[in-house]
Amino acid sequence: MKIRSMLKFDSPSEMSVAVLGAFVSYLLGVLAVKETVTVGLSGGSSPLGFYSLLSKPGNDQLLPWNRIHLFWVDERFVQLDHPDSNFGSARESFLQDLKIPLTNLHPISTAYSTPEEAASAYREKLRQFFGEGIPVFDLMLLGMGKDGHTASLFPRSPALRENALSVVATPPPRLVTPKVPRITMTFPVINRAGKVMLITSGEEKQNIINYATNPENVRLKYPVQMIANENLVWFISQI
Ligand code: 6PG
Repeated sequence: MKIRSMLKFDSPSEMSVAVLGAFVSYLLGVLAVKETVTVGLSGGSSPLGFYSLLSKPGNDQLLPWNRIHLFWVDERFVQLDHPDSNFGSARESFLQDLKIPLTNLHPISTAYSTPEEAASAYREKLRQFFGEGIPVFDLMLLGMGKDGHTASLFPRSPALRENALSVVATPPPRLVTPKVPRITMTFPVINRAGKVMLITSGEEKQNIINYATNPENVRLKYPVQMIANENLVWFISQI
């Protein structure tokens, strides 16, 4: 994996403050040259502190939300108001407090009979917004699970090798919860984005981080090693 920089913090709250600063300054930089900016958000617990900082009174004025379009990197195949839904937790933790137009929110709809149909519908949504081909996001926020997955790209999944489709369905993971099917963007999308911020917290992940970031370790053990974005910044809270 390619890493532009790796920033380590003693606690999730210190990390969240740094993520907020980096997020705001990067988006403002893009918005200085483009009318709108596109961001892919992930689920999981690690970005939640940053999400809630984003909507704190004062911070909520830092960005022109009407020029920011939010998409989801992955979603669990549950209803969007289910506690396990990534869009649902983003809505609870910050979206409901932000003045962002509803038309700027692009959740992965799960109102389909199968995850495959939901994945195909989201591909179509991306095609309508970005045009043909693999979409190029300005920024993607990713997490990493304790099995080394990122997005919903789990160890040994055929989705790891997807190189044509932007979004696919994946079966329930074996090692992490919730064990429900997922809909996920793929590595071609992650690796083309303008910037990737990988946000991780937890002592139990440090071994994987150490393995993945050591250039001597050439054996592919964890999906996170397949991130090949030139502008990857890894935010690491040690606990
Ligand atoms: C999901 C994710 C996933 C997440 C990691 C890390 O829907 O589960 O998007 O890739 O980012 O599992 O999650 P934690 O931060 O909770 O460990």
